[in-house]
Amino acid sequence: MVTGASRGLGQQFGRALAKAGADLIVTSRKRDDLAPFCREIETLGRDAAPIQLDVREKASIDRFADEAVAAFGKVDILVNNAGCNARKPALDVTWDDWNLVLDTNLRGTFFVAQAIGRHMIEHEYGRIVNIGSVTSVMGYAGLAPYCASRGGVKQLTMSLADDWGRHGVTVNCLAPGWFRTEQNKMLYENERWVEYLKDRIPLKRPGLPGDLEGAVVFLASDASAYVTGQTLLVDGGISTGATKATLDEV
Ligand SMILES: NC(=O)c1ccc[n+]([C@@H]2O[C@H](COP(=O)([O-])OP(=O)(O)OC[C@H]3O[C@@H](n4cnc5c(N)ncnc54)[C@H](OP(=O)(O)O)[C@@H]3O)[C@@H](O)[C@H]2O)c1
Repeated sequence: MVTGASRGLGQQFGRALAKAGADLIVTSRKRDDLAPFCREIETLGRDAAPIQLDVREKASIDRFADEAVAAFGKVDILVNNAGCNARKPALDVTWDDWNLVLDTNLRGTFFVAQAIGRHMIEHEYGRIVNIGSVTSVMGYAGLAPYCASRGGVKQLTMSLADDWGRHGVTVNCLAPGWFRTEQNKMLYENERWVEYLKDRIPLKRPGLPGDLEGAVVFLASDASAYVTGQTLLVDGGISTGATKATLDEV
């Protein structure tokens, strides 16, 4: 199951899991927006069931969990990916901006995990992959609510791992670095910014489609059976800090 799979990284995660042999439940606030992606998954020889979900609405989460279990009988993997951002200087952040980002990224992640975790616990098996970010471990100007939400997802992951480990459910956080998607494409249209970004990344490029595949399959599979509560950064190394400590290249 991948939430927020109408575009962007959610589709990258879904594609990777389907290629590794999973049938998928995919979600969006608009069910119809999932049709092209479901067709793509079917061409890979896997089933894909589209379900409407708004992670800001508790009733929607409850309905979605019931429908999801009915669709396949059992959910083994949850990739908790649905998310949003409000990119502005801290002094301009409004009450509503804060609520939008925290309600979606942190409260939504928790209550989707709770609804599906309840079902996984009944079956004594589950792999939950909460999507965090390099901002789970670093602060960035202009991203205060987002960084707070992603730091929260990292801590939430550790707490759920401790709660549910005894039931055979692992909970980890996959934290991508910088990947071009709808959410941030305005940044990538500025060449100076792209050069600045590349310079900060030890592997000297932003993330590409495919860069997250190995990590999501690892955390969703039995290869990670003894890994729980962890945050795996897939970020080209930008979370190292990447500040120059010599003068020769400045
Ligand atoms: N791109 C990056 O560099 C990057 C890096 C680190 C982490 N992330 C995180 O990875 C996730 C995907 O990012 P992305 O770049 O692919 O973003 P995106 O292109 O904006 O896609 C966001 C997805 O989340 C869904 N969504 C948003 N609000 C929702 C809500 N209230 N209820 C249910 N679904 C909702 C959207 O579905 P609908 O609009 O169809 O409902 C969409 O499928 C996000 O959580 C993001 O914060 C992204």
